[in-house]
Amino acid sequence: MKESLINKDIKIFTGNSNLVLAKAICKYLGITLGKAITSKFSNEEIQVKIEENVRGMETFVIQSISSPVNDNLMELLIIVDALSRSSARRITAVIPYFGYAKQEKKTIGREPISAKLVANLITTAGVDRVITIDLHAAAIQGFFDIPVDNLYALPILSAYFMKKKLVNSKIVVVSPDAGGVARARSFAERLNASLAIIFKRRPQPDVSEVIEVVGEVKNKTAIIIDDMISTGGTLVHANNAILNLGAKEVYACATHPIFAGESISLIKNSSIKEVVITDTIQIADLKSKPKFTVLSVAPLLGEAIYRNFFNLSVSKLFS
Ligand code: R5P
Repeated sequence: MKESLINKDIKIFTGNSNLVLAKAICKYLGITLGKAITSKFSNEEIQVKIEENVRGMETFVIQSISSPVNDNLMELLIIVDALSRSSARRITAVIPYFGYAKQEKKTIGREPISAKLVANLITTAGVDRVITIDLHAAAIQGFFDIPVDNLYALPILSAYFMKKKLVNSKIVVVSPDAGGVARARSFAERLNASLAIIFKRRPQPDVSEVIEVVGEVKNKTAIIIDDMISTGGTLVHANNAILNLGAKEVYACATHPIFAGESISLIKNSSIKEVVITDTIQIADLKSKPKFTVLSVAPLLGEAIYRNFFNLSVSKLFS
């Protein structure tokens, strides 16, 4: 029997990025969301007011850095500033989707490292600890000089396919690029499946092309796994390449449903059988759209918050 959090020195707040997830996390923890106003002044600047006492409390701010990215980032920073100035004992930023993570290194001259800048902003605002899921680049953890728990959605995604009985040698797990191989290998091991890797190139930002598929996909059910779906190009091109090589059917899964531009209709009109994603980013009405299945990360984040509050190990959540 778990110790209750009711009447403990804990408060959970959220910005506007993902209210549904924040409420689901609070439900998991058996407490209510902290009262705060996060809106805008008439000049478009973000206005925050914490409406309950947080002095000496363990506080958590749930906010994805998702679209509108800059507003959501500023909301996070300003809520943290408000908590810090209200004498919260400790502030943990719970960032289900960590935006700006694609710009984590310089690939050509005169580029910024925006992920490092965002890490600096979060730390400077007064955050003591970060909890996030599937950082696009694991190195971002090291951009912080405070503890960062980078959790994985892979157990949630693989459990879904196991339940569907898509588990055996007739399944091939596909990494849509070289950067995702470790994740795909771990996923394939869980499903007792084989592994294929796609090598892709980006002739320009947001445009992807398949160069080569390594591994046997013929007559197999393929499951593509990625960390995020943005324009949907990576996914749809991977699907086409695998089907051209004789795969029977293609499923896909990803942690972060960014779904930029026309990606939802691109995927809907493709031959991909099902796309499984999580709720790190709130997408209106997705549950009602056939082909998309949304799994919740609320229990994972709720458990991480619970364990952080009681100073219990979170290592279990990484296995
Ligand atoms: C690439 O490094 C990522 O893992 C994803 O494959 C990529 O961000 C997906 O982007 P899009 O959906 O725009 O192709």
